[in-house]
Amino acid sequence: MLSAEDNERLTRTGPGTPAGDLLRAYWQPVALVEELPDERPAKPVRLLGEDLVLYRRADGGYGLVGRTCSHRGVDLAFGRLEDGGIRCLYHGWLYDHTGACLEQPAEPPESRFREKVAHPAHPVRAINGIIFAWMGGGEPPDPPAFDAFDAPESHTFAFKGWWKCNWLQGLEGGIDPSHVSFLHRFLDEDPRDTYGQQFREHVDGTDVPLSKLVGDNFRPDIDVEVTGYGLRVYALRDLADDLRHVRITNLLFPNAFVIPFGNRMAIAQWHVPIDDHNHHWYMVMYDLEEATDTETLRAQRLEGVTLPDYEPIHGRHDDWGFDPTEQATTTYTGMGMDINVHDQWAVESIGRIQDRTVEHLGVSDRAVTAYRRQLLRAIDDHAAGRPTPARHAPGTSLDDLGPVAVDMITPRDGWEGHWRDRAARRRHRSPWARDPVDSRDEVDA
Ligand code: FES
Ligand SMILES: [Fe+2]
Repeated sequence: MLSAEDNERLTRTGPGTPAGDLLRAYWQPVALVEELPDERPAKPVRLLGEDLVLYRRADGGYGLVGRTCSHRGVDLAFGRLEDGGIRCLYHGWLYDHTGACLEQPAEPPESRFREKVAHPAHPVRAINGIIFAWMGGGEPPDPPAFDAFDAPESHTFAFKGWWKCNWLQGLEGGIDPSHVSFLHRFLDEDPRDTYGQQFREHVDGTDVPLSKLVGDNFRPDIDVEVTGYGLRVYALRDLADDLRHVRITNLLFPNAFVIPFGNRMAIAQWHVPIDDHNHHWYMVMYDLEEATDTETLRAQRLEGVTLPDYEPIHGRHDDWGFDPTEQATTTYTGMGMDINVHDQWAVESIGRIQDRTVEHLGVSDRAVTAYRRQLLRAIDDHAAGRPTPARHAPGTSLDDLGPVAVDMITPRDGWEGHWRDRAARRRHRSPWARDPVDSRDEVDA
């Protein structure tokens, strides 16, 4: 439970808000690369309550500038991409990607008026299918050395979706290890060729699908560890024969997480405000061993959204596709096989901004509680000019690399050494992994 004041602090992200300032101190996803078609690579975007225009420059770089022309306020989203920038249709002012006004053709030739204009502009960088924006002012830092960024593009797949609620609900759903035992349970375990089937893959070394394993063992021990990048969340489920299921997920501070996806893949997913009542999730799915079948994955994901807004087909308007017969026979939710829709329902059904003054958090909500504590502290630290998580941690230890997300079964004793060994070995096998960072690798081949 939060005070009304803290709930406001965490959920309001427009310019000048405490959480908005903090989120702007990190690279934020603003679009997929695929959203800028060659015919006219420009698009209006809304990020953290700011209306902007994103475009690709002739030199291959990108520009992200304020949508409202600094002259007399018309919409620059219709601008002409020419002469090294974007040119307003109304009177021809030309802006470059730094916000400099290069030309004001109707002004006298000797005029230096254009030098007085500083149009809003933010640096951008494309990484593995996602265009990230730096809205924190000044010279941007390099993005952290996360696996999602280091992976060669051939081993990744990027996608996004629009969820109609505050960003924090989406993020809190993603780091909550408890819900997978319920929300994503399948009564019918027949594997189908759909997106999310990895969630029904057999857990390594067993003949049990993950969804069944976590569904049957619905009271995990949850532990949370503060790391350089944010939080590491352990969900431990004791099985028969002195075995333990270890699921490790990670919060990438402040608004992303890394979760395992099947036995080989992981997903890094951001939840970034469009405004305080809407947000986008952006993911980079990466395969640690093989090239991804991007075409198939994209086709599966496109079944769930309409373009150009990546708006989900299901939502509040159709009760997220709820079917009571399906709920009785096939899925826990009655909302189809796509686990992304389940998550969407969970966070949207709460309402646009959750009233956290009336919730009741239990022991199983430990990750959410720890995250809110970290976030509230970071908001204060950032406002006071003190360091905040994931900004000053050099990526030199196992803790800071990856981070590694696993689903595995280990002997109950010594499970911690097992997952670390496994993580190090996995990185070894990956064609793109950095040098091994943990000397306890190669326990077995
Ligand atoms: S309003 Fe854009 S150039 Fe005049
Ligand atoms: Fe989920």
